[in-house]
Amino acid sequence: MAPEPGKDSDMMPAAIARSAALVDSTLETVLPQPHGPQARVQEAMRYATLAGGKRLRPFLVLHSARLFGVDDARSLRVGAAIEVLHTYSLVHDDLPCMDDDDLRRGRPTTHIAFDEMTAVLAGDALLTIAFEILADARTHPSGDIRCTLIARLAEASGHDGMIGGQVIDMLADSGFGAEDVVNLQRLKTGQLFEFSCEAGPILAGAPAEDRARLRAYAEDMGVVFQITDDLLDVTSTAEKTGKKVGKDAEAGKATLVTLLGVDGARAEARRRAERAIAALGPHAARSPELSGLPLFLLDRDA
Ligand code: IPE
Ligand code: IPE
Ligand code: MG
Ligand code: MG
Ligand code: MG
Repeated sequence: MAPEPGKDSDMMPAAIARSAALVDSTLETVLPQPHGPQARVQEAMRYATLAGGKRLRPFLVLHSARLFGVDDARSLRVGAAIEVLHTYSLVHDDLPCMDDDDLRRGRPTTHIAFDEMTAVLAGDALLTIAFEILADARTHPSGDIRCTLIARLAEASGHDGMIGGQVIDMLADSGFGAEDVVNLQRLKTGQLFEFSCEAGPILAGAPAEDRARLRAYAEDMGVVFQITDDLLDVTSTAEKTGKKVGKDAEAGKATLVTLLGVDGARAEARRRAERAIAALGPHAARSPELSGLPLFLLDRDA
């Protein structure tokens, strides 16, 4: 009997680890080997990226692509592109002019391990290489499909996407309500999740209806992810998360946890997780990995 969609979170750690191993070997092939007088920035690009993040965005690309029969060799390249772009956002987010953090993915942040100048430039180079990976014919033989991926990623990561969310976050005042917080988070973290989930149907040239389903799934899943990130900031440890905790409270930041309380935020995350699975519609039963992820994220401890 097919497993009930969404009730399959026991297999999730192994599924995430399998996907992360594939992603790590793809990252190894797309990242430059340090060479010449520019070696330092290439070393920093590798340091930031090959540090063992959870690789959730490439996991979403891989499984949204498998749903439509897309070859892993292609989706893993798109997964690598989103992962280097996400890594750039973390390198810059940790800089003294933003969150001023010294721990990321269990080790010193890039500007601590290298220096600020190198961290800014390594972030810039990770951002641009993401588009170089997508523009390569090995990602997809169709120029139209490559262009669609490039345009979607530019939109998702730009001024009305992730960067828009980052600037709202940086300028946020303590009077933010739940709606403001959800809007900020939908841009800051949700947009890269939406790109990751849409990448599968885009690679397959699937109908708009499939792209819309996957995007709706990602939208709610992004909120689940961010609520649990905020919960972990309150309830977890730096050993588990690999980054400093207690930062939101220290910065006086409004989150769904400060606005709704731990139980209220958890209840909202559960409601969103269930809605995400429902959005998959007929695809839910065909991908235990996609349908298992929202409830798995709800209970994650790192
Ligand atoms: C951290 O993202 C930044 C946020 C968007 C909250 P992840 O929790 O996915 O970080 P890594 O990639 O696993 O390090
Ligand atoms: C970072 O958000 C999100 C982006 C870099 C777009 P946070 O500042 O909340 O992430 P952490 O908590 O440092 O990982
Ligand atoms: Mg930040
Ligand atoms: Mg931060
Ligand atoms: Mg956070």
